[in-house]
Amino acid sequence: MQPGNTTSAQALALENGEYNPFTGKPYSAKYKSILKKRRDLPMTQQRDEFLQLVHDNQTMVLVGETGSGKTTQVPQFLLYDELPHLKNKMVACTQPRRVAAMSVAQRVADELDVQLGEEVGYSIRFDDCTSPNTMLKYMTDGMLLREAMDDPLLNRYSAIILDEAHERTVATDILMGLLKGVVHQRTDLKIIVMSATLDAGKFQQYFDAPLLTVPGRTFPVEVFYTPEPKADYLDAAVEAVMDIHQNQPTGDVLVFLTGEEEIEDMCAKVMARAEDQQWSGKMGPLLALPLYSSLPPQAQQRIFDKAPPPRSPDGPPGRKVVISTNIAETSLTIDGIVYVVDPGFAKQKVFNPRVRVESLLVSPISKAAAKQRAGRAGRTQPGKCFRLYTEKSFEKELQEQTHPEILRSNLGSVVLQLKKLGVENLVEFDFMDPPAPETMMRALELLHYLGALDDEGEFTDMGRAMSHFPVEPQMAKMIIDSHKFNCSEEILTIAAMLSVPPVFLSPRERRVAANRAKAEFAHAQGDYCTLLNVYHAFKGQNEDADWCWEMYLSQRHLKTADRIRGQLLRTAQQQQLPLKSAAYDDPMYYTNISRAITAGYYMQVGHLDRKNQYSTVKDQQVVRIHPSSSLDYTPQWVVYNEFVLTGQNFIRTVNAIQPEWLFELAPHYYDLEYFPEGSAKRELVQVKSRMAVLEKERERAAKKAKKKAKK
Ligand code: CDP
Ligand code: MG
Repeated sequence: MQPGNTTSAQALALENGEYNPFTGKPYSAKYKSILKKRRDLPMTQQRDEFLQLVHDNQTMVLVGETGSGKTTQVPQFLLYDELPHLKNKMVACTQPRRVAAMSVAQRVADELDVQLGEEVGYSIRFDDCTSPNTMLKYMTDGMLLREAMDDPLLNRYSAIILDEAHERTVATDILMGLLKGVVHQRTDLKIIVMSATLDAGKFQQYFDAPLLTVPGRTFPVEVFYTPEPKADYLDAAVEAVMDIHQNQPTGDVLVFLTGEEEIEDMCAKVMARAEDQQWSGKMGPLLALPLYSSLPPQAQQRIFDKAPPPRSPDGPPGRKVVISTNIAETSLTIDGIVYVVDPGFAKQKVFNPRVRVESLLVSPISKAAAKQRAGRAGRTQPGKCFRLYTEKSFEKELQEQTHPEILRSNLGSVVLQLKKLGVENLVEFDFMDPPAPETMMRALELLHYLGALDDEGEFTDMGRAMSHFPVEPQMAKMIIDSHKFNCSEEILTIAAMLSVPPVFLSPRERRVAANRAKAEFAHAQGDYCTLLNVYHAFKGQNEDADWCWEMYLSQRHLKTADRIRGQLLRTAQQQQLPLKSAAYDDPMYYTNISRAITAGYYMQVGHLDRKNQYSTVKDQQVVRIHPSSSLDYTPQWVVYNEFVLTGQNFIRTVNAIQPEWLFELAPHYYDLEYFPEGSAKRELVQVKSRMAVLEKERERAAKKAKKKAKK
């Protein structure tokens, strides 16, 4: 076989053989049974056409229905054609979602009959499951972007597939812009842009590349709307599922919700209802399975299990109900779904540059997304989609397409990465949809304040150091500066704890006990220090599972935090950053920590006014401390990690600080001349004059002492 010039017949002969050409081992029975299914995928029928286009073009766009085999088959087609391992290169396939990267890598490892992490691996932030043998790597788009910072021509790859391009994540958008330039310098590199929707014209134009459309094999889906708007979509979804289970013929159900908590809640409710009514014997067994990104991998795999069988051969059908975030919209295909329940919401990133707040907000989906969701019901037979909103609101209220994420994001990290990638002029970068100038300005301003860019907008040493950390700029700054406050070890821990989902578990029926357990870790300075306490206790207990269980802590998230901590530490060491920590009995121990946090997050400060109300200092948004906080009093000044918009404005993860620090640590930002009028400013003016008086006294005392010494 001649790399880059093979035929599908050659590949098929190898795949149908007795020995795995990549490992030399005989094929397993499992391999052969999966192979049979793969042969029926629409993508397989187009293998020759695909290869022809790849041979004749450097870049191509591929569009096909969800489930046609793009994600699982196309990378394998390229493996058999490129034979990248012979030239010490790899095929990369990007995914916007971590779950999809992991789950698909496992599936393709099975399809190729190899061990996950060997020939086929995945790489997501803080978790690299690859080896020197890896020739096919599924990875998040963010990880490929990070790699591009150290290897701008992406020399490790012979082909790069940008999958799920229709999702238009920030990372994919930037990769598209970069790769458009890279192809001129690397004429041996192949680029495949894959998308699920039919809005392919835009990609095709942008890349000036040929398009291959894989005809879908879908069945009609009948769509039902509710006649009246629903007050509570969660309750409505439970009702819809129970109704389907009681009244519809065999077939599994897929429900779209917005996040972990909702999903677990609904799973519990559905299971309770099913068990309750089973006594009447009128219904078949029902299995509700959650799917969201922070679910452990084994639990994620369960969505591919078969529905439970009926209790008796002629009894009502057993049914599987998968309750998922919009991961299941296009990223993961679950076979056997016949019914879709769509409440019409998803968590989406929104950014308001005026108040510099980026949040995940539950918001209505677009028409395009609603159509995708409905399509999930018609993969294997005609299906039904139950929309829990009215037809009128579908027509009148939903926007046509979801806006690209880059138009809804805080670009701080992005601008930092672009600078690292050597993009000098951000305005001239070839964005598919350029972000608003104001958003870009806000990002530059943020980086300038943090000292990552100088007055000319050039990268500083701080900026360069920050760009090595896979975390937001404020957090990177906090880590890098921590040695100045003698608390590097502690700050690394805090940064790691902030990079995992909340470690405190709070099961609905045990909330009181859970809160009591949590209170044992509470620290008077605030949540950052509480997180530190939790980590120390966890390590002190040798990461014991029973202890975690008793204390209502997630052992899994804590272990992840521990791993992330190691990675942040290595990053710091590789850059030879100074690391210093005071002893635990140092009287300044916790003050140091709070000061280091403030050094990174001084732009996120809340102030309590006379009316006992917090507002953010510069943007003057009225906020409340999130109920999950371990603080049991209201400090006058707090630094916060996150601004949460959920009908009400909350600040989450807060620590008490002293206002004097703001002037010491960030005099340029706390230049009162340019500060908006309001209670925070009035207070800060007083603080400043107090500081001046103290300073004068100190000087006077020093002079006196000097005179005395002279005498
Ligand atoms: O990327 P695309 O949506 O075009 O399809 P895919 O993810 O490559 O999936 C193709 C087929 O592989 C699906 O229809 C499933 O039948 C099968 N598959 C599976 O059985 N288990 C998985 N974990 C992933 C895919
Ligand atoms: Mg796919």
